[in-house]
Amino acid sequence: MSATALLERTAPLYDRVRSVIPPIEWPVFAEDIEAILALKRQRDAVILAHNYMTPEIFHCVADIVGDSLALAREAMKVDAKVIVLAGVHFMAETAKMLNPAKTVLIPDSRAGCSLAESITAADVRLMRERHPGVPVVTYVNSSAAVKAESDICCTSANAKKIVESLGVDRVIMLPDEYLAQNVAAQTHVKIIAWAGHCEVHERFTAAEVRALRTDYPGVTILAHPECPPEVVAEADYIGSTADMSGYVGREKPARVVLLTECSMADNVSVNHPDVDFVRPCNLCPHMKRITLPKIRQALETMQEEVTIDPALAERARRSVERMLAVR
Ligand code: 13P
Ligand code: SF4
Repeated sequence: MSATALLERTAPLYDRVRSVIPPIEWPVFAEDIEAILALKRQRDAVILAHNYMTPEIFHCVADIVGDSLALAREAMKVDAKVIVLAGVHFMAETAKMLNPAKTVLIPDSRAGCSLAESITAADVRLMRERHPGVPVVTYVNSSAAVKAESDICCTSANAKKIVESLGVDRVIMLPDEYLAQNVAAQTHVKIIAWAGHCEVHERFTAAEVRALRTDYPGVTILAHPECPPEVVAEADYIGSTADMSGYVGREKPARVVLLTECSMADNVSVNHPDVDFVRPCNLCPHMKRITLPKIRQALETMQEEVTIDPALAERARRSVERMLAVR
């Protein structure tokens, strides 16, 4: 296969990402992209990709993209035989529990999450013993075993709504302490938190945000609610990754900072060439384990398949479905 022909065939795809991928890097991506597109047809597979995937995944091979909430909703509707989850392990588990008849593949099963790893099912049971009768709201960034011990799940996009939907004056909210504190600041419901943190968002500081305002006068600052409350307090808008993307599309700020994972600004900027993205960001080492060669390998070998014990999956699914039922 000639390299020139490959570049010609993939030119329309390169056009989508030319603002964020230098031309010298494209030939390396192009071959895997063509192979993945063919394998998707051959395997009857769709790729669900989180907003933190790199642009060549997000814009060139993904069928469905979004935040954790959107990926969960879309996973339920997939008709294809195979779902490749380009994201971290808890997202693949959620897809499997919501659509158990499908083969769900994760391109690197080591793609974890510091939040999911901060708590076990036994910890949840202990929290319940300490706070009898208080419902447990669990962030989707958690294992299936932890979801199975919970009353209802939430994501960063719906956390306040879920907490208030329960009609109680106190909830246990696991495992993200900062998300819990940021929700507590917006609601009358008392929140008992767990001390888990996102290793990406906990690194942002209020001093960094103030320095950005000095260095870039008039800049609009958007923060993810996994950031510490003192960072959130300095931001202009707080929201999930999809909310941030929606804000940029709606408000079209002249200059913006997204206090979140690095690929987010790359992916959003592709659709908003008129917006100036200032890019202080932190990389998620877990999300970055997912690469084009690993997606290709997953489709070639049909590995790694995500499986969950059916009884556990049933209990975990109930928590996620209760969340999805809240409108
Ligand atoms: P959302 O995309 O749901 O906002 O989540 C961000 C995140 O950190 C996922 O791991
Ligand atoms: Fe987990 Fe944070 Fe990485 Fe998201 S960005 S997967 S919350 S460590």
